[in-house]
Amino acid sequence: MERALYEPGLGYYATGTSRTGKAGDFITNVTVGSCFGTLLASRIAEYWRELGAPESFLLVEQGANDGQLMQDILEWLSAHRPECRKAAQVHFIEPLENARKAQAARCPEATWHEDLPGELGRQGVFFCNELLDAFPVQRFRNTKDGWVELCVTLADDGDSFCWLEQPTGSDALKALAAAFPRAPVEGYTTEITPGLQPWIKAASRLFARGLWLITDYGLHAEEYYHSSRSQGTLRGYRKHQLLAEGLLCDPGEIDLTCHVNWTTLMDLAPVLGLELLDFKDQMRFLTNLAVPMLKSITNPDPRELRWLRQFQTLTHPGQLGAKFQTLQLKK
Ligand SMILES: C[S@@+](CC[C@H](N)C(=O)[O-])C[C@H]1O[C@@H](n2cnc3c(N)ncnc32)[C@H](O)[C@@H]1O
Repeated sequence: MERALYEPGLGYYATGTSRTGKAGDFITNVTVGSCFGTLLASRIAEYWRELGAPESFLLVEQGANDGQLMQDILEWLSAHRPECRKAAQVHFIEPLENARKAQAARCPEATWHEDLPGELGRQGVFFCNELLDAFPVQRFRNTKDGWVELCVTLADDGDSFCWLEQPTGSDALKALAAAFPRAPVEGYTTEITPGLQPWIKAASRLFARGLWLITDYGLHAEEYYHSSRSQGTLRGYRKHQLLAEGLLCDPGEIDLTCHVNWTTLMDLAPVLGLELLDFKDQMRFLTNLAVPMLKSITNPDPRELRWLRQFQTLTHPGQLGAKFQTLQLKK
């Protein structure tokens, strides 16, 4: 999965920044329009005030793709909270060359880091949208002989890929034993995202004082590993359609994604000195933030009407409102 998504020159994300949006394979909060950015910006400005309106603070995004969300945030801050905008020092965590180029075109002032760099500064805000669902996962199946890892190998025809059952490593076995005190039925298939714990550990070190805004689609551990979810959450998408032909067709050409196990992050956060400030579905998170803006719109002009339509897409439970959640952590 790591190579299919990130292999330089070949991987799905390493070869294009137009994977998202109507013309791509899936829409995100960002591709709906600038509404998501305006609402996150208002939360960022509120937190900056809580910090005492410092003259300088860090604004860090990871997994920014083409930098559109950062641009939407900075534009809203310039127009509505210029002091906060002036104070913001923009950083991207971005290993991919193609994405860095696209981000530089939108936010030339930014500083880039290949990976989370340890402590970046005294205070700041970190945010990411749909970063964690793109982390590579390991896939496991319970068989009559116990857990096996589902690996990928070249098929006999030499021209396609197939699954290969391999013995399960000891770290994964420990994680599976914790998730399943009693072994599930034979054939039960699931995943583990090994990068999640190291990621939250590294992210927590960014600032001595800060706010972390993490938006994604995910489940709590008990739903994630529920007996009814017998085929896990690993999915492939192309042109907004769930892949019927299986996960191994056209690696590098299809989106591969997995739900986030929120419990992993929420269990570790307090150990890392992060306060669990809030966890909500997107519908409630964004609606709370939007109240002042909604109140100020009495006779909407065409720009406000566009914003309202985007707000509806982001918050309607039948659209994106119930699909995504936002975790807010604070230190
Ligand atoms: C589903 S896309 C979301 C893009 C964008 N945030 C949005 O909402 O439209 C996932 C993004 O996370 C990036 N990503 C995955 N792992 C990353 C990592 N370790 N560091 C930085 N970016 C990463 C991918 O390259 C990709 O751009």
